[in-house]
Amino acid sequence: MVNLTVDLGGLRLKNPVLTASGTFGYGHEYADFMDLSALGGIIVKGTTAEPRQGNPYPRMAETPSGMLNAVGLQNKGVEHFATEIYPTLHGLGTEVIVNVSGSSVAAYCAAAERLADLGKIHAIELNISCPNVRQGGMAFGTDCTAAAEVVGAVRRVWPRHLMVKLSPNVTDIVAIARAAEDAGADSLSLINTLLGMAVDVERRRPALSTVTGGLSGPAVRPVAVRMVWQVAKAVKVPVVGLGGICSVRDALEFIMAGAMAVQIGTANFVNPRIAADIASGLADYCRRESLTSLDEIRGVV
Ligand SMILES: Cc1cc2nc3c(=O)[nH]c(=O)nc-3n(C[C@H](O)[C@H](O)[C@H](O)COP(=O)(O)O)c2cc1C
Repeated sequence: MVNLTVDLGGLRLKNPVLTASGTFGYGHEYADFMDLSALGGIIVKGTTAEPRQGNPYPRMAETPSGMLNAVGLQNKGVEHFATEIYPTLHGLGTEVIVNVSGSSVAAYCAAAERLADLGKIHAIELNISCPNVRQGGMAFGTDCTAAAEVVGAVRRVWPRHLMVKLSPNVTDIVAIARAAEDAGADSLSLINTLLGMAVDVERRRPALSTVTGGLSGPAVRPVAVRMVWQVAKAVKVPVVGLGGICSVRDALEFIMAGAMAVQIGTANFVNPRIAADIASGLADYCRRESLTSLDEIRGVV
């Protein structure tokens, strides 16, 4: 018998495979392709206190082994989520986690406070890669003091599981991870996208309207595995690994590096069933290797 359930700091998941924010809509969009209840959880689109238009086009560019995006957190705001989306999410048979973004501490808190009214949302994932408008646009997640400030403030208004998603665009990921843990994170997810840029040589201008954007996909995986390995050794809270996972083998890299669970992002655009396939593939792997649970190989490296 294989037991794939994981306890993510009090948040119980039926298996360790989640879908990553911004790559799986609200889940419904994928319901024709797969049984959503096969997933450990769905992390929905980045949600902000107020509606956001997102950035002008072009805001996506294909790159070797990945993609650049500058979608800019387009969403209709937390009130729309609460009144229009939330009522439709019951009965999916999996945990729904809301990714929360903002450009000020007050904006993060406003979104989290509204979500606290929604009893079936058991966890939020705080995206601290957003620019801190009051401090000149530096991302909250690239400075220990700013990261601790936003995590601590949300901790005071959000009563349930608080996952904090770290940016890889830093020199010392462990310092930021510790700051988030000390400020009250229940788990840490990493990595968000790596800052990149591509040039459209025909038009002689940047490929994205915003000039720079976030790199994701298999190209970033070794960076993500390295950071997960560093952080998992340094903190007590569970770590959720992501970045370029496209197969069971890729997911196992993160688990062996110390991740309690994984998220699947860009790979959903290539194969919309990939997350469910990886969940069932992890069970097959355990059977083949005569493991009763992934605990036997977690952090083994
Ligand atoms: C189109 C797109 C939109 C994204 N939107 C969000 C978002 O709203 N919030 C967030 O925290 N991360 C967002 N991400 C980052 C992913 O959740 C993930 O951290 C990153 O892409 C690395 O994983 P991957 O290589 O498996 O895609 C987005 C990524 C892509 C490609």
